[in-house]
Amino acid sequence: MQTNMATLGKFISFEGIDGAGKSTHIELVRQLCEAAGKQVVQTREPGGTPLGEQLRGILLQQKMAPATEAMLMYAARHEHVVQVIQPALARGDWVISDRYVDSSIAYQGGGRALAQAQLDALGQIAIGDLLPDLTLLFDVPLEVAQERLARSRVFDKFEQEQADFFQAVRGRYLQIAATQPDRVKVVDASQSIEEIAEVVRGIVQTFLQRNAAIAESQA
Ligand code: ADP
Ligand code: TYD
Repeated sequence: MQTNMATLGKFISFEGIDGAGKSTHIELVRQLCEAAGKQVVQTREPGGTPLGEQLRGILLQQKMAPATEAMLMYAARHEHVVQVIQPALARGDWVISDRYVDSSIAYQGGGRALAQAQLDALGQIAIGDLLPDLTLLFDVPLEVAQERLARSRVFDKFEQEQADFFQAVRGRYLQIAATQPDRVKVVDASQSIEEIAEVVRGIVQTFLQRNAAIAESQA
């Protein structure tokens, strides 16, 4: 897809294995951005559009072949990009998404062992070159995530997967972070909520300051 349209806003995504604690910190990031005067669009994947939310219902409950799962994830993502993310960025809004394309690379690539070349081909159609400007990767050992999940909710299809699946997902996430350190910031999410909030605050404030400095130099 064509993604060379003007993007005046910024795009922040949250990533991590289930139970890492990313959803817990989204509100904080929203508040920090709003306090800096940004108009924020908060959204999630799979989902974020009426069709995407319908696909989410299917994807989180129904078993299917790995490639089917990948294609539906990227189909939902394309709708999300076209209907929500690109228009918001073009207006100058800031987009905060609970998961984006790194989830597919980690879960469908790492967890389900689909080839990266196949995911790249889907990505070419679904998102073109639209990557987040900042990604917060919440990283925890599996046992910690699993313990948090067990306390908090009924498991969906992914959350019922075995430890080796999540080990592969976590490993792939860390690979992405290692190859794209400017975009992907790893947060040690095994700490307390307060300690993590402090780290997240630091990363987002640095990002906000850097963007303010760039905007000023272009004015
Ligand atoms: P995710 O969105 O990454 O799946 P959540 O933010 O929903 O994870 O957190 C899963 C559960 O763990 C929730 O019950 C949440 O309150 C709890 N939790 C989140 N972060 C921490 C933390 N740092 N320490 C202890 N419990 C946490
Ligand atoms: P999420 O809503 O983050 O789950 P939770 O907040 O309950 O942890 O994500 C839904 C699930 O979908 C999660 O297990 C990860 C999975 N997923 C993929 O496998 N591939 C993808 O591309 C996306 C966006 C999510």
